[in-house]
Amino acid sequence: MATLRLGDKAPNFTAQTSEGEIDFHEYLGDGWGVLFSHPADYTPVCTTELGTVAKYKDEFEKRNTKVIALSVDGLESHKGWIKDINETQGTTVNYPIIADEDRKIAELYDMIHPNADATLTVRSVYIIAPDKSIKLMITYPASTGRNFDELLRVIDSLQLTAYHKVATPANWKHGEEVVISPAISSEDAKDIFPKGFKEVKPYLRLTPQPNVD
Ligand code: BEZ
Repeated sequence: MATLRLGDKAPNFTAQTSEGEIDFHEYLGDGWGVLFSHPADYTPVCTTELGTVAKYKDEFEKRNTKVIALSVDGLESHKGWIKDINETQGTTVNYPIIADEDRKIAELYDMIHPNADATLTVRSVYIIAPDKSIKLMITYPASTGRNFDELLRVIDSLQLTAYHKVATPANWKHGEEVVISPAISSEDAKDIFPKGFKEVKPYLRLTPQPNVD
């Protein structure tokens, strides 16, 4: 299998999940998607991660984004563990968890890094755009729980680029100034960005975030 890279089409698959069989692309529909793997069921860091994602459902929905988790454990294991997540994290898991017992999807998405662990998936994250292209890939070690606020921040940035032709600077947070794409001339920028812009350098032009009042 060729390594996946940014811009590649996210491979489609069918899978058994805690919410029934799904076709991945159909599940995503015409919105954005987050596919994330975790090493194993009934483990402490994973339990906190899956609970956190459940609590962020509204945040993902606001961004027209569906989430789906994966591990190489089976369906019965997922079902029992979901009860524990709900109990210990004070939430209700409200998205599917793929049971990838034969590791087909983990291999398709290069989620097993044998020098880290021979059989379990690492903490991979893929953000997928409505055209099914891969927009972000990050890999965390098993021992580090992910920062899901950072993932929401990246989705905001990707959507600003997709819908408003702007990029986001270092440590950007929602509501702060954004960067005008170098592909846009300053002449065109006057029409595209009615709030105006600051030209720090010809290649560094800042404008208020377009989609906030
Ligand atoms: C955890 O989720 O806590 C975990 C899983 C695998 C290795 C280390 C930690």
